[in-house]
Parts: sequence; structure tokens; C-alpha cells
Amino acid sequence: MAGNVTFTMIKPDATAAGHTGKIIDKIIESGFTIKAMKLTRLSKEEAGKFYEVHKERPFYGELVDYMTSGPIVAAILVKDNAVEDFRTLIGATDPQKAAEGTIRRMFATSIAANAVHGSDSDENALIEGAFYFSTREHA
Ligand code: CMP
Repeated sequence: MAGNVTFTMIKPDATAAGHTGKIIDKIIESGFTIKAMKLTRLSKEEAGKFYEVHKERPFYGELVDYMTSGPIVAAILVKDNAVEDFRTLIGATDPQKAAEGTIRRMFATSIAANAVHGSDSDENALIEGAFYFSTREHA
């Protein structure tokens, strides 16, 4: 059975553009509850670690630079079938391919600056949530 937790980041492009409120509204309207949330900023080391799975990809350096270029909002979200439903809500990685009405279609500017992150599995949702929040912060 699918888990009920996912993890998201509102990325530097969307945060700098002042879209955090609209994105959080859309997440809540779509049935997610917020279990933990913080406005924070990643160091190069933290971003490198968070995206370690992409280390061999040609865009890794650009991704780390971009994710450390400004503040982000990190959050743990709860809903039945959270991972899949959240990925549907945010749309395809490339905003030009994202469906109408999705968060990336509405707020993202490019593949790199694609407004939001969503975990790709129940296992990664827990790992990514634990990367940002202590157990006490989402008890
Ligand atoms: P996300 O799904 O949050 O996690 C991996 C990120 O890598 C992805 O969002 C994009 O921001 C980024 N990414 C994926 N493909 C490319 C690409 N071709 N060029 C630059 N960045 C990319």
C-alpha cells in the first residue's frame, strides 16, 4: 500500500518570485496537510548531498548552484497516496511538458528552475524529510 507522506521544496526561483503563498494554497486545496515546514537556505555541501543520486548527471553542478542561489521552503506533506498525488499536482519535470493547471506549468520557468520538488518514492520521502527536519519537528 502507498504511504501517506511526501516531501517538497519550493525552489529558489519560485520563492524569489513571491510564489510561496500561492503554491502552499494550491497544495492545501489539493488535500495535503502540512506536517512540518521551514524557510531555509541550503549550503553547497547540503545541496550536493541532497542531490547525490544525480552526481554523475551533466546538470549536477548547475543544479547545486541553482539550489543554493536563494532561500527555499521545505515541507513534509501528508495525504493518502501522497507521493503519486503530489507528483500529479506538480506536473512533469520540464514545465513545458507539464499539464495545464499543475504547479510547474503555472510557476516554473525552466527544467532547472522548475519551482518545486516532489519525492519520487515513499522511501525517498522519508529520507528527504529527515534531511531537513528532526523527529521532534514532525511528530
Ligand atoms: P527534481 O525532480 O526536484 O530533482 C532533480 C532535479 O534536477 C529536477 O527537479 C530539476 O530541477 C533538475 N534537472 C533535471 N533535469 C535537468 C536538466 N536536463 N537540466 C538541468 N536541471 C535538470
